[in-house]
Amino acid sequence: MSIAEKFDSMNYGPAPESCEAALQWIAARKGKFDHFINGDWAKPQSKKWFESRNPATGEPLARIAAGNTKDVDAAVAAARKAQKGWSALGGPARARYLYALARAIQRNARLLAVLETLDNGKPVRETRDIDIPLVARHFYHHAGWAQLQEQEFAEFEPMGVIGQIIPWNFPLLMLAWKIAPAIAAGNTVILKPAEYTSLTALCFTEICKDVGLPDGVVNIVTGDGKTGEALIKHPDIDKIAFTGSTDVGRRIRSVTAGTGKHLTLELGGKSPFIVFEDADLDSAVEGVVDAIWFNQGQVCCAGSRLLLQEGIAERMIAKLQKRMETLRVGDPLDKSIDMGAIVDPVQLETITSLVGKGADEGGIVWQPECELPTAGCFYPPTLISNVAPAATVAQEEIFGPVIVSMTFRTPDEAVAIANNTRYGLAASVWSENINLALDIAPKIDCGVVWINSTNQFDAACGFGGNRESGYGREGGHEGMMEVLKPKFLSKLRLSKDAEKTPERKSASASSLAHVDRTAKLFISGKQTRPDSGYSLPVFSAKGEKIGDVGDGNRKDVRNAVEAARKATGWTKASSHNRAQVLYYLAENLDVRKAEFAERLRQTTGVSAKKAVDEVEATIQRLFSYGAWTDKYESAVHSPPMRGVTLAMKEPIGTIGMVCPDENPLLSMISLAAPALAMGNRIVLIASERHPLSATDFYQVLETSDVPAGAFNIITGPRDSLTKTLAEHDDVKSVWYFGPQTGSKLVEAASIGNMKRTWVNNGRARNWFDVTQGEGREFLRQATQIKNIWIPYGD
Ligand code: NAI
Repeated sequence: MSIAEKFDSMNYGPAPESCEAALQWIAARKGKFDHFINGDWAKPQSKKWFESRNPATGEPLARIAAGNTKDVDAAVAAARKAQKGWSALGGPARARYLYALARAIQRNARLLAVLETLDNGKPVRETRDIDIPLVARHFYHHAGWAQLQEQEFAEFEPMGVIGQIIPWNFPLLMLAWKIAPAIAAGNTVILKPAEYTSLTALCFTEICKDVGLPDGVVNIVTGDGKTGEALIKHPDIDKIAFTGSTDVGRRIRSVTAGTGKHLTLELGGKSPFIVFEDADLDSAVEGVVDAIWFNQGQVCCAGSRLLLQEGIAERMIAKLQKRMETLRVGDPLDKSIDMGAIVDPVQLETITSLVGKGADEGGIVWQPECELPTAGCFYPPTLISNVAPAATVAQEEIFGPVIVSMTFRTPDEAVAIANNTRYGLAASVWSENINLALDIAPKIDCGVVWINSTNQFDAACGFGGNRESGYGREGGHEGMMEVLKPKFLSKLRLSKDAEKTPERKSASASSLAHVDRTAKLFISGKQTRPDSGYSLPVFSAKGEKIGDVGDGNRKDVRNAVEAARKATGWTKASSHNRAQVLYYLAENLDVRKAEFAERLRQTTGVSAKKAVDEVEATIQRLFSYGAWTDKYESAVHSPPMRGVTLAMKEPIGTIGMVCPDENPLLSMISLAAPALAMGNRIVLIASERHPLSATDFYQVLETSDVPAGAFNIITGPRDSLTKTLAEHDDVKSVWYFGPQTGSKLVEAASIGNMKRTWVNNGRARNWFDVTQGEGREFLRQATQIKNIWIPYGD
């Protein structure tokens, strides 16, 4: 027998990792775990514990406390009590704790890895080599942010108490993603692990004890969705951070709407894995293995849709099937196993039924002949080809080791299919032509793109999605911005918007001296009559009628959104060109300064001096954003690989914005200009009380080269227009600055397409103050970051 033949016939011997130490750890705690509140174990008030099982064997592992509202109350109280002191410690002191946590995680790495594998069913090879090292890396990285906080985030403060809910697919890693940045920034947390996988979080509490973390900084309450529900409803929580299914994310958005809680959501995905004809197919095959069979495909950013260029589709499928034959499914504690167990019989059932549906809808289901263990939850690697882009299996997140394949002809078609999903988490692009890959990456509507690679993560590189994959980023600078808030925010007072409307008088002789003029709406670069055919009277500060504006309705909002959707030229324009237009707007406003000041004096009743000040400040603001267009720049990260990650700041798309009544000209431009500067198109609802500054602005727009559809203005009843805007699926973000009730309306109505929202919770800003009314906070809201991973070398 030749050596080559010997190699061919060789099989893997067993390479078991001992689970003795982990089982002893559980046994030493009598297999029963309470909550961890205020630095100590706390018995569940329900006096109930539920069973956690090893999915690879079906055997019970431990009993876990079932949290209820009272447990959550106690944990929130502990976190609240600890927060001020923890924040007051200062960044460098907190850095020491995070550093100690990172070191302790490394010391306990093997125990944590084995415990994770027992609890979740994922191969120990992955927990040992990927999950736990990344956990430690996260604490190290964020020890660094704590150390630098006072320099890098001087204008910011911690949000306060953060409720965190995590899923079962990367239990300890998701804990690290949530806890490390939050506590680094000076927040305290209550974390609820997923009910299937609580053990490593509970082990982590002992690490917190060991390093002497102050009581109440980290609290862990275990339980299922009901416990999570108690957390999201708790009134004394400042922020909820959630990772899990889109359905639960949607529920959290509607429960927290209008409560003033910050929210970040990292939800599901159906990420494309695109292989072009010139790709290195053997590498791409290994890429698919990592994309969809890593963690049994139970990965939110799994490359679960294989998009193959027609010319190589057959060859690629043949190579992939050959590779699938070699994948080994079995005991996750065996170090040479590729795929372990599915987390729970419920998840196994979901996968099985979705694959059945794929076959029913005409997909060709292919599985290698591989031996599966007879006990426990296992599912073979599965490829479903001949799938139509609209098929259930091409649209629904299967969250299992199942990839569906389809073909495309041209790069444009690849992009169209890639974006034909409600999700927008990640994408993987395979081509030896870097020009092609870098052309495709920005066109995919998602938060992360891996070029010639997949499932790469690092604490310095932000992670998170667009569309129904949620909003917010975790990791790096952008992740820190999600756990901090500008210092001035907590000092803002409730808006005086509800101030009494002055008594309204009929038109006076002086107002009739003007030629009667009814302002229309401004849609697609044109002054347009409102669909309703009606107008609304506008009154001066003295209560005299001074004009009419269009009574905009849903149809007008839809027309404006349609115009904005088409105005892609503005987004594609260079930042230099956008700056020119903003400068031009400033110039043209300057020419008509007196007229705009007079209007402000007339409508808002301010003194002539204040009115001039407001116009001057508006002109300055336009100049500032003209300046910012090419200065709010993307970053390049150096993750631990041969390559770079580009953190690209991209426009969001169409942004709906609802303007406040205070300083109607300045506030309108303070909102519109940053969004335009970053390449967004806008649909703006003018101040309901003082709309004439907006309608006067039409002529400035018409003379300033703003392309049709980039800047649309609607006047009319704020609440109904806002609701239509917030419910519209083509609107990607809504900014709302108005009375408190409107913030709730916007957040609740945003759940259709899970659009981003930025609301003022009824608090009025000082628009003249550049800290409150201008700058990075606005630019951050006007952009989303896409991290594009580009490896080097052959
Ligand atoms: P899930 O979204 O129900 O659970 C995630 C976490 O949310 C768990 O801690 C759970 O206890 C908690 N939760 C459930 N209902 C809640 C509520 N009403 N309020 C607050 N917290 C609540 O996910 P599940 O049921 O475990 O998995 C179902 C599907 O979700 C999977 O098949 C997969 O498609 C998707 N999923 C996506 C994940 C991702 O990383 N994007 C992670 C886990 C699941």
